[in-house]
Amino acid sequence: MTTATPSLPLFVLGRGSDPESERGVDCPGSLPPASDPDLVRRAAAAKATLGDRLFVLGHHYQRDEVIAFADVTGDSFKLAREAAARPDAEYIVFCGVHFMAESADILTTDAQQVVLPDLAAGCSMADMARLAQVEDAWDALVDAGLDQDTIPVTYMNSSADIKAFCGRHGGVVCTSSNARRVLEWAYARGRRVLFLPDQHLGRNTAVLQLGLDLDDCVVWDPRRTDGGLTTEQLTAATMVLWRGHCSVHGRFTAEAVADVRARIPGVQVLVHPECQHEVVTAADQVGSTEFIISAIENAPAGSAWAVGTELNLVQRLAKEHPEQQIVFLEKTVCYCATMNRIDLPHLVWALEELVAGRVPNRIVVDPQTAAEARAALQRMLDLPG
Ligand code: 13P
Ligand code: SF4
Repeated sequence: MTTATPSLPLFVLGRGSDPESERGVDCPGSLPPASDPDLVRRAAAAKATLGDRLFVLGHHYQRDEVIAFADVTGDSFKLAREAAARPDAEYIVFCGVHFMAESADILTTDAQQVVLPDLAAGCSMADMARLAQVEDAWDALVDAGLDQDTIPVTYMNSSADIKAFCGRHGGVVCTSSNARRVLEWAYARGRRVLFLPDQHLGRNTAVLQLGLDLDDCVVWDPRRTDGGLTTEQLTAATMVLWRGHCSVHGRFTAEAVADVRARIPGVQVLVHPECQHEVVTAADQVGSTEFIISAIENAPAGSAWAVGTELNLVQRLAKEHPEQQIVFLEKTVCYCATMNRIDLPHLVWALEELVAGRVPNRIVVDPQTAAEARAALQRMLDLPG
């Protein structure tokens, strides 16, 4: 029997210190004030001074003021590939969240240094699966004699030690743009998947793309003894979903889909697969941030879209495509608080530190964890397509 592992205690974002979790730590430096009218010039000057020694990656959910300085923008899959493809850049400044910077460190050479401009840019979803909890779940599968035909699959949005766990147990990483292909890979190797940490991406991909039934899926709740599941339920399941979710995408509702359809005739509802199953099934299209962007870029002028993903991206799309009507799906959903931690003052501070010869907020994954996590990441990167 496994006992429930307690959840992480709360602390105010950006205050307090917990380098072991995705919640990050305080910024150690003195930041320029956000009101400094010189910030754009300072960022541009520091970037020019660093030249080819620097490569700045920007996730699509970053603020416009930060995206303006990104050498490349992308979803987490594209950014992982881009980081791996720049062995000449001495410094990789990652404008995104902590698990992305960890993946960049794992995929780059030892000579390269990855910087996260604000260490408080973590991810609440990644924090919902901690290694001790995942090991407890795995022990339950071992005790039930099920581990040999179970493949652990973790979403990119997880800490490096969870990716390493998957690497150790013959598993793999996926992102929202390749979850289907990765699950096909996994089911070719085992009859059951343990999917970490986003239950919604796991369920949506299994049911809507691979044709599994909702009844084939069970949810392992790390806060309950034995995950809240019987051995019979674990044995029968082909998809064991971790009870985790995105605190942004998990808040879109099927009512908002019905509401926007009533308000905007002919609107197309386009959502990210981190949304709840009932939202995804009510929508017209579902896909990763890269998919959402290309759906809108390729749509004819005059089309109307209600988009269920992070607000920075939706606002940017609306600004870039005035020929279309683009609205945010849900009135009460906010920006991703941790993505928004990276702002221009933090970026300026990080770049100026690099110019001064100091490497701030370096993200380093220990060699053993990195090697095992790399195995799981590499299995994903080696898949065709
Ligand atoms: P993608 O970048 O895979 O679309 O994931 C979205 C997300 O929530 C990143 O934090
Ligand atoms: Fe994490 Fe969701 Fe924010 Fe992405 S959008 S960083 S999954 S909380």
